[in-house]
Amino acid sequence: RSEGLVDTFGRVARDLRISLTDHCNLRCTYCMPAEGLPWMARPQMLTDEELLRLVRVFGDLGIEQVRLTGGEPLLRKGLTDIVAGIAALPNRPRIAMTSNGIGLARRAADLADAGLDRVNISLDTIDRETFATLSRRDRFDDVVAGLAAAAEAGLAPVKVNAVAMRGVNDDGVADLLQWCLERGYELRFIEQMPLDAQHGWERAQMVTAGEIRARLEERFTLTPVPERGSAPAERFLVDGGPATVGIIASVTAPFCGACDRVRLTADGMVRNCLFARGEVDLRGPMREGASDRDLVRLIRGEMWRKAAGHGIGKPDFTQPTRPMSAIGG
Ligand code: GTP
Ligand code: 5AD
Ligand code: SF4
Repeated sequence: RSEGLVDTFGRVARDLRISLTDHCNLRCTYCMPAEGLPWMARPQMLTDEELLRLVRVFGDLGIEQVRLTGGEPLLRKGLTDIVAGIAALPNRPRIAMTSNGIGLARRAADLADAGLDRVNISLDTIDRETFATLSRRDRFDDVVAGLAAAAEAGLAPVKVNAVAMRGVNDDGVADLLQWCLERGYELRFIEQMPLDAQHGWERAQMVTAGEIRARLEERFTLTPVPERGSAPAERFLVDGGPATVGIIASVTAPFCGACDRVRLTADGMVRNCLFARGEVDLRGPMREGASDRDLVRLIRGEMWRKAAGHGIGKPDFTQPTRPMSAIGG
């Protein structure tokens, strides 16, 4: 095994986030417009073989966890085989998935059998109408069933991600926490980031981590959990524990200094950051016969260009041209 994937600030990437597809069956307002986006065509996307080759190459570079994302990863054909393929690699990484949960009810057990270790499911509200407004689809029951099936299949800890939006779901944060506590899911609230395809994000509209915490403290006692490492969420014991709630303050308290992530898009580009302005193509070189060593050189080069932080709020900040659904969260 070679030296890890370092950048010029001494950070080491250990978490590879792979967007398996940019397609999605929801239309969350913080992510994409009602009409959807121009989706990637099949030939643009990595084949399963290309993908598994890259996971192996990244594995040799010290990647310890692979996170499958989208769009919606459950929409990727052959997902179970991809999971099984990753699980069969030497130096098998931990395998996690971030999903909207739709369709997971039927597939959680198979995915767990194939080697999936755990899931993070997006659920922003437990109010059915608010869910339909926010995601523009009436699929609340599917998500709830997906969560239950994930827990049943042992994809633990089951985490729930909620983006807080002013005037939409922010009045329901304590209800959502109560609901997750009752079911044993680990809830994390997320500050909305400027990643929507419509470029409609406004700092002043964002519900801050401080506000979320204050709302939760109207009903619960929160005690900070000290150790955090490279985890994005600041965690709190709820009413003395053992249950916890997390708040991901990506904007007001960025964790870029401890970032251990690197990303691979469905069309085979390496991104060194959610907010990276550039990317390096691995698909083209692979299809032209690049060796593993060539790929390693390209990956290392891209990590070496990784910036210190996302710079949201700085005068020269620009939103990435690739939308969240094609980066993979
Ligand atoms: P765990 O290993 O379970 O903690 O996963 P995670 O929280 O890293 O993954 P998940 O896909 O659930 O991401 C949750 C949220 O964290 C996303 O919605 C993003 O808002 C935020 N996030 C993930 N990766 C990054 C990143 O590299 N930078 C920033 N600023 N935020 C990120
Ligand atoms: N800001 C913060 N989080 C977002 N997500 C999607 N769009 C945004 C955004 N603009 C979340 C989803 C999912 C995770 C991968 O990213 O809710 O939980
Ligand atoms: Fe789909 Fe996730 Fe975007 Fe919602 S946030 S539309 S679930 S990709």
